[in-house]
Amino acid sequence: MTLDIQPNPEQLAQAAADFISAQVKAKPDLSVLVATGHTPMPTYAELARRVRAGEVNFSRVTAVQLDEYLGIDDDDPRSLWSWMRRSFVAPLGLTRTVRLDSPRQFEAAIRELGGLDLAILGLGPNGHLGFNEPPSPPDAPTRTLALTPASLASNAAYWGELAVPTGAITAGMDVILAARQTLLLVGGAHKREVLHAALERPETPEVPASFLRRTALTVIADEAAWA
Ligand code: F6R
Repeated sequence: MTLDIQPNPEQLAQAAADFISAQVKAKPDLSVLVATGHTPMPTYAELARRVRAGEVNFSRVTAVQLDEYLGIDDDDPRSLWSWMRRSFVAPLGLTRTVRLDSPRQFEAAIRELGGLDLAILGLGPNGHLGFNEPPSPPDAPTRTLALTPASLASNAAYWGELAVPTGAITAGMDVILAARQTLLLVGGAHKREVLHAALERPETPEVPASFLRRTALTVIADEAAWA
């Protein structure tokens, strides 16, 4: 595991953009599992800036959706597919995507890609990865599930007046842990407790992110999250 502590969220985004750009330069047809949520947004904005400046080319990269709410349309502001397209696919100029529609189709698409090269992940306040809610063992498959009260509460921050959908589909722990590299981005004092649990305490399904230590893991956190 590599743990990279950056002084603030801006530097975190720079370091994460450096990491992801280096992967794309080494393998232009990289397949990437893409988290939405707040934490990676400045990173994606910095990557978009680099693409516009001609510093890196994402045109052969495939973006793979990590998770989605159930029962909402693409044009619903809560659609994570739309969020991924808005924040990552369109600004970085990607043409290849894998949508998380059904577990079977999703797993087949990943097999066809030859597996995932990189998983870009955020850390849920309850230790979730994607929507792999506690408890999620390392072999938890791609599936639909009910969100926990903790996730409903934290996701409410994204949607203002709109209700948080209660059902979701997520890439399985098995898919995430099979990625050839994992990048976990963590910012803010509210993640400190769970970050320490994920990196330092024994592996447990109660903190699904604790299983990331089995992977080729890079954690980029800010000082607030690690202090
Ligand atoms: C989003 C996702 C979630 C978030 C996590 C952290 O696609 O899969 O697991 O990564 O909830 O969210 P933020 O970054 O908003 O704290």
